[in-house]
Amino acid sequence: MIITKAKLQDAPKIHELINEYAKTGILLPRSLSSIYENIRDFFVARKEDGLIGVAALHIVWEDLAEIKSLAVKSPYTGQGIGKALIKACTEEAEQIGIPKVFVLTYKVEFFKKLGFEIVEKEMLPHKIWGECINCSKFPSCDEIAMTKHIIPCNTFYDLYDTKFA
Ligand SMILES: CC(C)(COP(=O)(O)OP(=O)(O)OC[C@H]1O[C@@H](n2cnc3c(N)ncnc32)[C@H](O)[C@@H]1OP(=O)(O)O)[C@@H](O)C(=O)NCCC(=O)NCCS
Repeated sequence: MIITKAKLQDAPKIHELINEYAKTGILLPRSLSSIYENIRDFFVARKEDGLIGVAALHIVWEDLAEIKSLAVKSPYTGQGIGKALIKACTEEAEQIGIPKVFVLTYKVEFFKKLGFEIVEKEMLPHKIWGECINCSKFPSCDEIAMTKHIIPCNTFYDLYDTKFA
């Protein structure tokens, strides 16, 4: 199994995988056009038999990105693929200089294991609720907000200052 950035040609399979879970309400559906538009957000997990997992890192604010559309194909769950996809997202966040990532999820225990902490949704900037208006769950969203600090802000800015001063 390898994790790579998605290719544009992966979009139909990504769409299929996300929307398979969306039918049961555990993921928000994504349109094919939103996947094409945001293809640079996506990581995919691949095996010889094709695409078996997906996750996206979407920048939303000066210091914040959302991890969204995390899905592992059902025969492959429980093999560390979800964890590897989240690691790819958080490593990219670190490289880009994003101090904090968040997720809206029902899989609290999974994310706790990966170092995420529950926060009040109100702690997140209002900008993130823009998309929610189009969601069938709006305004009664029961997903849990969780965040993970990637680089302590001060450390990040110290590093930045040292390198570019
Ligand atoms: C949630 C999901 C992404 C997890 O992926 P996965 O590949 O099965 O998870 P992993 O094998 O990487 O698990 C990593 C760790 O989390 C644990 N874990 C996985 N799913 C868990 C769950 N639902 N509850 C509690 N712990 C969980 C594993 O036991 C493992 O623990 P370990 O490191 O101590 O062995 C996958 O089950 C899935 O696609 N679910 C449907 C879509 C979904 O709910 N997406 C999340 C939207 S935010």
